[in-house]
Amino acid sequence: MIEVHQLTKFYAGHQAVRGISFHVERGEIVGFLGPNGAGKTTTLRMLTGYLPPTSGTARIAGYDIFRESLEARRKIGYMPENVPLYDDMRVREYLNFRAQLKGLDGKRTRQRVSEVLDTCGLESVKKKMIKTLSKGYRQRVGLADALVHDPELLILDEPTNGLDPNQIRQIRELIKRLGESHTILVSTHILHEVEMTCNRVIIIDSGKIRASDTPANLVQQMRAAGRVTAEILVAPTVAAEAMGRIDRIKKVRTEELEDGWSRFHVLSDSGSDVREAIAQLAAQYGWPLRTVYRDEPTLEDVFVEMTRKD
Ligand SMILES: Nc1ncnc2c1ncn2[C@@H]1O[C@H](COP(=O)(O)OP(=O)(O)OP(=O)(O)O)[C@@H](O)[C@H]1O
Ligand SMILES: [Mg+2]
Repeated sequence: MIEVHQLTKFYAGHQAVRGISFHVERGEIVGFLGPNGAGKTTTLRMLTGYLPPTSGTARIAGYDIFRESLEARRKIGYMPENVPLYDDMRVREYLNFRAQLKGLDGKRTRQRVSEVLDTCGLESVKKKMIKTLSKGYRQRVGLADALVHDPELLILDEPTNGLDPNQIRQIRELIKRLGESHTILVSTHILHEVEMTCNRVIIIDSGKIRASDTPANLVQQMRAAGRVTAEILVAPTVAAEAMGRIDRIKKVRTEELEDGWSRFHVLSDSGSDVREAIAQLAAQYGWPLRTVYRDEPTLEDVFVEMTRKD
């Protein structure tokens, strides 16, 4: 459904997207994750034909987004980061206007607008002025707009941005439901949402793709890396140095706790469990040790690890 090849974007001297390539198959719900400034919006704007790339290609359902822009865009429902709505229009009137702009005839417009009002839960506010709507309802209008021409593919840029937990849940349910009949590429910061709704995640950072896999596989890979946490009554630098001398230990991060206790986050070779080695070390030096356990990584840990700046 989406084929991206070596896509690059330079803004006046700054390279925001650095030769990324990826595919999204028909029927997938893919989460597009990355920290602020990673290049998510830039990528999505190129995919939807709003921003010309510096180099590289993007195809939507086989159509080149720039050379066959009309055909490609017909396949896409795009909800931008800041949904531009006409404040002085009423909800239904706005959707009618957008449907006509997208080339739907009168009959089809009436039919589709009535369908998307229903799908997006907008029936009760259809006669309200857009400027009087809450943020959650405005997002729904943006989604209804993206859906009105009945596209196969939805590209959503942070659809839950700025919403309260109830509204986030409602939009998440809506996206999940839409995923039954659409291909979806959705950028978001909310990792929990991704785990619940997406079949796959693509992690982007500094304009490059760092990972692309199912949430479960990413977490599994991280687990295999072997991470242990220990709390010991000792100065952090002293113990970190001693741990660093153990062969299998690759990296130690320290944290100072209360009353002289320190917490050690220990990264070891793949598959290696260093709990016992740490316990022995503590015994050898006579350091009181109150806990040592293997970390169960979360998608958040994967995200932090892949996008860490140090
Ligand atoms: N119009 C522009 N002109 C110059 N630089 C830009 C422009 N738009 C974005 N950038 C820069 O390109 C980089 C990527 O920005 P982009 O908006 O794509 O990131 P993002 O991943 O969507 O971030 P966020 O999570 O904050 O929405 C950033 O360094 C940003 O400052
Ligand atoms: Mg953005």
